[in-house]
Amino acid sequence: MTEHTTTQVKVWDGLVRGFHWLMLLAFVAAYLTSQFGMQQTHILIGYLITLLLIVRITWGFVGSQHARFSDFIATPAAVWRYLKASFRNDPPHYLGHNPAGGWMVLVLMGALLLMAISGVILVAVIEFEGPLLGLLSGMSDQWAYRFSELHEWVLDLLWLLIAGHLLGVVVASIQHKENLPHAMVTGYKTINKDKGKQ
Ligand code: HEM
Ligand code: HEM
Repeated sequence: MTEHTTTQVKVWDGLVRGFHWLMLLAFVAAYLTSQFGMQQTHILIGYLITLLLIVRITWGFVGSQHARFSDFIATPAAVWRYLKASFRNDPPHYLGHNPAGGWMVLVLMGALLLMAISGVILVAVIEFEGPLLGLLSGMSDQWAYRFSELHEWVLDLLWLLIAGHLLGVVVASIQHKENLPHAMVTGYKTINKDKGKQ
């Protein structure tokens, strides 16, 4: 009988975990406030989302090992190898984001950033307030309309990305027999020392 020695490894630092769950809450709140016409609350939550993104993106350069972009941005070839192995139901294990998940994270952050940029622009050109007011007060209605379209279009894209994100989390949790959302809560993963999981 083979003996399996397991050990707990810290993967996600507090900032990554805090960012994730606050972003989830803020995203839901931003959506609901937009639907119920709570414009001022929507803008406040929008600033929170913008701040979260700035902090997390900075952390991607200076944070702990698995928080760094350099840890999870893989080459297209590595993504393809990972996806092929995943379809064979035999993907290699990664402590941080796997190559496919890493790109999903990057695209999610990019879409959220577009939401934030278009949102802060809209605050200036529609509400006539906010940090960009001085810079953008002369913007034509036509451009204001385009940014408002962009804001709504990126939201549609985000629904697709979030669906893909959740599907990826469920599939990877099943394939690696590990509870990824739980790891995003505690910060720890349990690894099998014998298998030398990386
Ligand atoms: C990422 C989360 C966000 C979601 C889901 C979201 C969603 C929406 C939606 C659906 C609308 C259209 C409401 C309507 O006309 O019926 C809207 C409008 C608006 N949002 Fe956001 N938004 C987000 C982030 C932000 C951010 C970060 C800001 C700025 C700080 C912002 C500022 C605005 C403003 C000023 C409008 C009014 C634009 C208009 O009247 O056309 N939003 N948002
Ligand atoms: C109940 C809903 C959600 C669950 C259970 C969930 C779960 C997770 C898990 C387990 C990870 C780590 C993936 C890995 O191990 O590689 C993760 C990462 C991530 N998720 Fe979610 N997620 C949810 C909703 C969302 C939403 C709504 C967004 C965007 C608005 C989002 C954006 C992200 C981002 C940006 C990361 C990367 C985190 C980082 O590296 O800082 N998630 N999520």
